[in-house]
Amino acid sequence: MTGRRELYLQEMGLGPVWRLKPAAVEPPALADLQSMDRNELEAVVANCTACGLHKTRTQTVFGVGDENADWLFVGEAPGADEDAQGEPFVGQAGKLLDNMLKSIGLQRNKNVYIANVLKCRPPGNRNPQPEEVAKCIPYLERQIALIRPKLIVALGKFAAQTLLGQEVTVASLRGKVHSYQGTPLIVTYHPAYLLRTLQDKAKAWEDLCLARETMQGLNSGESAII
Ligand code: URA
Repeated sequence: MTGRRELYLQEMGLGPVWRLKPAAVEPPALADLQSMDRNELEAVVANCTACGLHKTRTQTVFGVGDENADWLFVGEAPGADEDAQGEPFVGQAGKLLDNMLKSIGLQRNKNVYIANVLKCRPPGNRNPQPEEVAKCIPYLERQIALIRPKLIVALGKFAAQTLLGQEVTVASLRGKVHSYQGTPLIVTYHPAYLLRTLQDKAKAWEDLCLARETMQGLNSGESAII
């Protein structure tokens, strides 16, 4: 039903108009995603109804930055600001992330791509549920395959655990170079956590230094993963 028809019906006192809910659409199988280019993938994500989060989102938050970036930063899920603006890390945590990038000579949109594990906001900023991650992770996997970053930085427990498949703390994962399917991956604290836990900022700085050194090594042909 078009918006105009709906308006006429309402004017005539025939509203409210009941509409059939679109059936939940399963995300395409990984095999289908694997042939998709970036624009096709973004369109599939924008129309995704594979989990309940589509009912409460304003819009999906696909990712932002240089599609050929060497650096990929992965967060957890959009919050209220990101849901409103359609871009990852634009709220308070995003301001801190931008400063973290700056501290190692990086800048949003320049040789950096920023994405989240979940493309939709969990209502009330609750933790993502396992079934939501299961539905959404193929999108991030395809994004990573398309961007082919040299280095991934996992921001916080949730991104780290999801990408590494290990249910352990950030504290136990930081300080070394892991591998995500052969791509070096470094774990640091989530900017939102750092806003609450100022004493861990120094550790995040160490992680960023490790990331910068690792990238320097990669650029000079060293193998990074221990
Ligand atoms: N926190 C995240 O993990 N991602 C965002 O995009 C914003 C806040």
